[in-house]
Amino acid sequence: MRMPEKGQDWEAVRAMLEERGANDAKWRDGRTAVYVFNAGEEIEQVQKAAYTAFMSENGLGPMAFPSLAQMEKDVISMALGLLHGPEGATGAMTSGGTDSITMAIKTARDYARSNGMAKEQANIVLPQSAHLAFDKAAHLMDIEIRRVPLKSDGSYRADPEAMSGQLDANTIMMVGSAPNFPHGIIDPIEALGDLAREKNVWLHVDACVGGYFAPFARMNGENVPPFDFEVEGVMSMSADLHKYGYAAKGASTVLFRSDDLYAFMPFKFDGWSGAPMTTPTLAGTRPGGAISAAWAVMNYLGIEGYKALQGRVCETRKRAESGLKALGFEVLGQPVLGLVAFRHPDLHSFALYSEMFHRGWFTSVTKEPRSLHLMLSPKHADVIDDYLRDLESACAAVRSGEAAKKEQVSARYS
Ligand SMILES: Cc1ncc(COP(=O)(O)O)c(C=O)c1O
Repeated sequence: MRMPEKGQDWEAVRAMLEERGANDAKWRDGRTAVYVFNAGEEIEQVQKAAYTAFMSENGLGPMAFPSLAQMEKDVISMALGLLHGPEGATGAMTSGGTDSITMAIKTARDYARSNGMAKEQANIVLPQSAHLAFDKAAHLMDIEIRRVPLKSDGSYRADPEAMSGQLDANTIMMVGSAPNFPHGIIDPIEALGDLAREKNVWLHVDACVGGYFAPFARMNGENVPPFDFEVEGVMSMSADLHKYGYAAKGASTVLFRSDDLYAFMPFKFDGWSGAPMTTPTLAGTRPGGAISAAWAVMNYLGIEGYKALQGRVCETRKRAESGLKALGFEVLGQPVLGLVAFRHPDLHSFALYSEMFHRGWFTSVTKEPRSLHLMLSPKHADVIDDYLRDLESACAAVRSGEAAKKEQVSARYS
């Protein structure tokens, strides 16, 4: 596209925007189970109104916009209240999970260096299922990543013993997920915490998906193991508001056990021509709307609202699990939140994925082992039966396609 010589009126531009979106996933109808978290129209309206109210303001300037500074403090305080933050725990809002993880790694690295550790190339030890954001951040900071196979007991959980074998004097961080993305399973954070304390290694819990889900699931009586600052060895956490916090996109939290650890995160600089600056996170400009929308949704929903939404998601996951098992699928491990991965003993997951895609479902896949993947939202309660019905017909289509393929092959060689 070339920039038009003359600007166009808003109605024309709006029409073009609508046209652009015409082929996007129709997530509002519930047939998308990745990328978006659909808590319904009411929440979307709150996000929008609260976002636009502070859309032009900039969190980079806390003195100009004390409103945003206070809202960020409130968000962090609410987060720490949910995640057993001890006295003195603190954190900051970032633009997303990758950003939070990057900042936690930078903080852990600088902390290690300040203690005379990690004299050679720093490394991070993490389970194979941990999010690739760790690799991206490590790439940026020239840190070595040591991925460790999961336990081989079919639980899809991290293997603390195997991780222990990878730790050395240059390890700046160990990671556990709550839950991991590929399988939706919470790692054994207590065992990782014990190991972290024994070896004096920083443990980060990536609760990007579960940080604003697991506490409410637990309040609802789900069997959620300790995964947050309640576990002594946990030094930092990433928890995304724009996932199961149902905030507008561009909002996450990075949290630290103490102010002393947090102190290694901000960047202070006065060696340039401009004014001296301190920025807490990677961003310079910090979109005010992402802060106000997160703050607003948290206050709009409150504990009761989150408990109701997350309860709906857990119920939907249980309905999905029993429907899937009835169709002959194996559910990987024992998910307790909103992600579930599953595979069929005879039918190729990616062929099923393709059949489902052609039936209008936009979902995800897991590679190890090959399986289908759903990230469920409250809206999916309305459509999970349709999904299961379509999956049954997708299974039949893949089965008959495979039977036809076999016939072709045997005809060719007979
Ligand atoms: C477990 C986990 N960690 C980190 C991230 C990265 O979050 P973001 O996409 O907001 O950068 C994701 C994203 O899905 C995730 O599932």
